[in-house]
Amino acid sequence: MKKWTVIDHPVAHARLATLRDDNTQTEDFRRALGQLGLILLQEATRDIETKARSVRTPLAPATAKVLSREILLVPILRAGQGLISLVDQFLPEACIGYLGMARNEQSLQPESYLEKLPLRLGRYEVIVCDPMLATGGSAIAAGKRLKQLGAKRIRFVHALASPEGIKALRKVFPKEPIITASVDDCLNDKGYILPGLGDAGDRCFGC
Ligand code: PRP
Ligand code: URA
Repeated sequence: MKKWTVIDHPVAHARLATLRDDNTQTEDFRRALGQLGLILLQEATRDIETKARSVRTPLAPATAKVLSREILLVPILRAGQGLISLVDQFLPEACIGYLGMARNEQSLQPESYLEKLPLRLGRYEVIVCDPMLATGGSAIAAGKRLKQLGAKRIRFVHALASPEGIKALRKVFPKEPIITASVDDCLNDKGYILPGLGDAGDRCFGC
């Protein structure tokens, strides 16, 4: 079983440094999160299926490869939207479905407040996007709901993960790829990732 992928890329490290820095203001945070999202999505789509396609160049016939299936990005609002904010520059053809979830600060359980997804999820490569995998509750709830609606291929993309979150997600989704830029040390008693970057949604949206 493949455990998870922690990308090791100098530009990803630089963007993470910006995101972690308490002095980073909203504008720079948002830009860095979008840029890190692009790097994570490149890694997350590295092994998706392709099929052969014949095309004609201006000079001769050529065999090319295209994606076998449509990609559906599912950002978990709010912060997930920040992670995919620049996706047009890498995957302009991707469909985007939304799950809105807010973590209850007392119970740390995700509370769903919005769902806007296409029909027939089985035809997509589904990528759940959320900068933070903390307790894992939000990602697990998202993954379960997507499976319930017919998703067959799901992967999870996170800027930061906690060891606790990875363990919890793996327990429910033993085989689905998890791609992150860092596995941090632990969670604090309020369920925040340490050292982490603080509250991703608040820092990305400025409130
Ligand atoms: C944050 C984050 C994840 C969730 C992670 O969302 O963006 O969705 O917490 O925590 P978990 O792994 O313990 O479930 P939050 O509830 O703060 O909402 P926001 O994105 O709207 O700020
Ligand atoms: N949500 C965040 O925004 N940050 C954390 O560290 C944990 C959950």
